[in-house]
Amino acid sequence: MDKVKVAVLGATGLVGQKFIQLLNNHPWFEVVAVTASERNVGKKYGEAVSWYHEGGIPEYVRDLVLRRSNPEEVPGDVEYVFSALPRSVAQEVEPLFAKKGFKVISNAGAFRMDSDVPLIIPEINWDHIELINVQRRRRGWSGAIVKNSNCTTAILVLSLKPLVDYFGVRRVIVTTMQALSGAGYRGVPSMAIIDNIIPYIEGEEWKVENEGLKILGKLSGDHVEYADIKISATTTRVPTLYGHLESVHVELKNKPKSLDEIVDAMREFEGIPQKLKLPLAPEKPVLVVSDPDRPQPRLDRNAGKGMAVVVGRISWASNIGDNWVKYVVLGHNLVRGAAGNTILIAEAMHRLGVD
Ligand SMILES: NC(=O)c1ccc[n+]([C@@H]2O[C@H](COP(=O)([O-])OP(=O)(O)OC[C@H]3O[C@@H](n4cnc5c(N)ncnc54)[C@H](OP(=O)(O)O)[C@@H]3O)[C@@H](O)[C@H]2O)c1
Repeated sequence: MDKVKVAVLGATGLVGQKFIQLLNNHPWFEVVAVTASERNVGKKYGEAVSWYHEGGIPEYVRDLVLRRSNPEEVPGDVEYVFSALPRSVAQEVEPLFAKKGFKVISNAGAFRMDSDVPLIIPEINWDHIELINVQRRRRGWSGAIVKNSNCTTAILVLSLKPLVDYFGVRRVIVTTMQALSGAGYRGVPSMAIIDNIIPYIEGEEWKVENEGLKILGKLSGDHVEYADIKISATTTRVPTLYGHLESVHVELKNKPKSLDEIVDAMREFEGIPQKLKLPLAPEKPVLVVSDPDRPQPRLDRNAGKGMAVVVGRISWASNIGDNWVKYVVLGHNLVRGAAGNTILIAEAMHRLGVD
């Protein structure tokens, strides 16, 4: 059977490389076009890329010639366009792709909070995909734009969703320890981060405090009603390479009788990707560990091939209030937080015939 053709925009960056790696030997999708910035257009991928992931450059992509991120340069029979472009570039070009009929699934921040743009983690809010019909009506596009959330948000909300469903959530306080790769290939200078922690990431706290409310919200006609949860975030950059660790305090609406109920809720949680057994779906999207010193970025970031988040240290935070619980969650920022979640969306669209 012929594979579905896909393109990767910004294929030479850290997220772009993760796409190339995860799409190597994908059972349904085949990468036929890759793009980069002007300085690399016309070069072979294998010659232009500074490859940073384990395993080396997959053979299939070495000789593909890098194109401009322009819909005229991508073959018309491409079904899904995966975007790993910087926000400012995505803002300009993603609508051009959608207008030309391509289904763009994107990691870039642009358009995430637009009311007619679905912001999706398939296990949590797959039904929001309906918004592409609103988008098409309003914007006159035959294609569509679907978004991934910010990586830190994705990891947090996967751990929150079972709590929202079982106990209700009122307030969340989160402090993050985010890996260097989250800032992109040219992100943080080594002189700034070695022997150091930077307690500030531009724009990040707003994203963590707001994007999750849309993802956890309810589809209501032509828009999403945001979840009624207050989130306060402090985001920091730490000298790890991959895997964002987050310390989370949560005020529940209804206090369970024991912590075991919280563990069970997290362990039982699953969604459309697990039911459909999609190729990139982890068996369980939330894993709970009991060792007191886990999860750790180096040891746990590849859980579920990077598609599961790992929760540990679940305990009551009764010093703050009766209904407060605290835990630590870890997820792979480039996989569940970026390329992996994007491909999972495309797998669900393809499997369910969302056209
Ligand atoms: N890193 C993460 O954990 C993460 C997580 C979630 C979302 N995101 C988002 O995903 C996107 C990519 O992030 P990244 O970390 O992969 O960044 P990155 O390493 O800086 O890569 C950027 C990519 O975009 C290309 N590019 C840059 N300027 C361009 C232009 N003017 N026209 C066309 N292409 C251009 C680059 O090509 P050249 O190689 O030719 O410069 C490269 O392929 C960003 O929007 C980011 O916010 C990142």
